[in-house]
Amino acid sequence: MSVLLSINSLSKEFKTEKGLIKVLDDINLEISAGESVSITGPSGSGKSTLLGICAGLEDPSSGTVNLCGELISSISETARSELRLKHVGFIFQSFQLIPSLSALENVTTPAEIAGNKDARSAAQALLDKVGLDDRMHHYPNQLSGGEQQRVALARAFINNPQILFADEPTGNLDAENSADMEDLIFELNEEQQTTLLIVTHDMEMAAKTSRIIKLKGGKIDVD
Ligand SMILES: Nc1ncnc2c1ncn2[C@@H]1O[C@H](COP(=O)(O)OP(=O)(O)OP(=O)(O)O)[C@@H](O)[C@H]1O
Ligand SMILES: [Mg+2]
Repeated sequence: MSVLLSINSLSKEFKTEKGLIKVLDDINLEISAGESVSITGPSGSGKSTLLGICAGLEDPSSGTVNLCGELISSISETARSELRLKHVGFIFQSFQLIPSLSALENVTTPAEIAGNKDARSAAQALLDKVGLDDRMHHYPNQLSGGEQQRVALARAFINNPQILFADEPTGNLDAENSADMEDLIFELNEEQQTTLLIVTHDMEMAAKTSRIIKLKGGKIDVD
């Protein structure tokens, strides 16, 4: 199987008042196309940081990230945005929906930017799929946390990404909604053959992925 994401000698440090903290320490990882992988680890272990770097949203302190055939740590920000738009879906821990846009507009926008002439109907179909057909014209502040998370899921899938990065996609949901969200992610993954990299504390969800990676002390914990 072809390698879709390859991380080599990746380190990330942050400057803080107490000095330099090393959050990721010489990480190596390869993920093949079609694989589903979960990342677990204690709060503060660097899961969100790792996900952001893999998706080209954040720069590493050292090391390289190869995503969808591009060395993203060394291409321009414009080229990176283009790569993300075409090939990457991202669900943020805090959703990051655009507050001034309705649910439908939030989902439609990335498809319009990508030049999809059927952006609106594609967005409607996805919102329908995540159970928000009667909420399309509502704004994020009119939606519950779980509903916003489902809009974020629809937005992440609108451009048929090769890879979905999801940061605790069930973190704000109750057991029932959480199970629905899981089903949706794995269903969309199956339908669109999307590679998955999911940060989660939910061991049931992690168990459904083909590989579990544990982050601890800046390293991948092999037990
Ligand atoms: N911009 C930043 N500046 C300084 N420190 C940062 C910055 N971003 C993250 N950190 C620190 O890096 C560490 C890892 O943060 P990160 O958000 O990746 O953890 P996490 O594993 O996702 O935690 P959680 O499970 O709580 O979401 C934390 O100690 C955090 O305080
Ligand atoms: Mg996090």
